[in-house]
Amino acid sequence: MSPDRRPRDGGAALSGEGVAQRQEDYASGAPALHAQGLVKRFGALVATDNLTLTLMPGEIHAVIGPNGAGKSTLIHLLAGTLPADAGALMLDGADITRMAAHRRVAAGLSRSYQITNVFKRFSVLENLLLAVQAHDGGGLGFWRPRAADHDLYDAAHALAHECGIDPDHLKRAADTLPHGEQRKLEFALALAARPSVLLLDEPMAGMGPDETARLTDLIESMRGRAAMLLVEHDMEAVFRLADRISVLVYGRIIATGTPDQVRNDAAVRQAYLGDEMDVSPLAAT
Ligand SMILES: Nc1ncnc2c1ncn2[C@@H]1O[C@H](COP(=O)(O)OP(=O)(O)OP(=O)(O)O)[C@@H](O)[C@H]1O
Ligand SMILES: [Mg+2]
Repeated sequence: MSPDRRPRDGGAALSGEGVAQRQEDYASGAPALHAQGLVKRFGALVATDNLTLTLMPGEIHAVIGPNGAGKSTLIHLLAGTLPADAGALMLDGADITRMAAHRRVAAGLSRSYQITNVFKRFSVLENLLLAVQAHDGGGLGFWRPRAADHDLYDAAHALAHECGIDPDHLKRAADTLPHGEQRKLEFALALAARPSVLLLDEPMAGMGPDETARLTDLIESMRGRAAMLLVEHDMEAVFRLADRISVLVYGRIIATGTPDQVRNDAAVRQAYLGDEMDVSPLAAT
């Protein structure tokens, strides 16, 4: 059996009834996102090697692995910003394998932390209004009745509130926000699409410990709003947030399981976590 075909729950002991129940849920029910046999080659390099991954509704599923393992490539394949050489992709039961990136967003697959999605000179509120309007079914209609404007403002303010954006920052140009607040805005813009799946590629990158802790809290507070695929090097955040973790090495998933299962997986320790397992958040339990 190849490593990426191993049973999801195989091996390690479960840490409690809640976890056991969740693992059972993952075994049954319809996935929000299912990638089957994805392959991506860059010349002779196989960056994504027959990768199969399931994301259940509302789940936070982290993908970890060493530099160059293929994590960002995977995000690109899922988002549609890179074409796969082989494999299939299902979103909420629909085949989106050949769907263009922008249509995947409309279908419910959003990606956060693309700073290019933010109109830097526009205010935070204007950015939120545009995002809400773009996804409320009406498209970018500029000649809308005033009643609809109120709904848009309400939705934009509600989104800002949910994502913990400081109300005093709403009138500021987006590019003048502190780093952490920009991340919140990007998160809010991604959620405006009301995605069923949200892809997060290193949301904590470049953040200090305080900002990382706040963003971890924010993602935690969004649990259940969308299934989230979280690529992240910050192991403390990963092990706190993830329902399940998949470990990617040389383009292949070598293990998928609960944080406890992954922490105790011999192959994972050998292939990847060896050094990082010694740091306190992972060694704690
Ligand atoms: N556009 C590209 N052309 C050629 N090779 C690429 C391209 N993008 C990625 N690669 C290679 O594919 C492999 C996987 O890269 P990828 O960026 O997906 O890794 P990663 O897991 O995201 O790494 P990191 O943790 O450093 O972000 C690497 O060997 C990388 O050099
Ligand atoms: Mg990367």
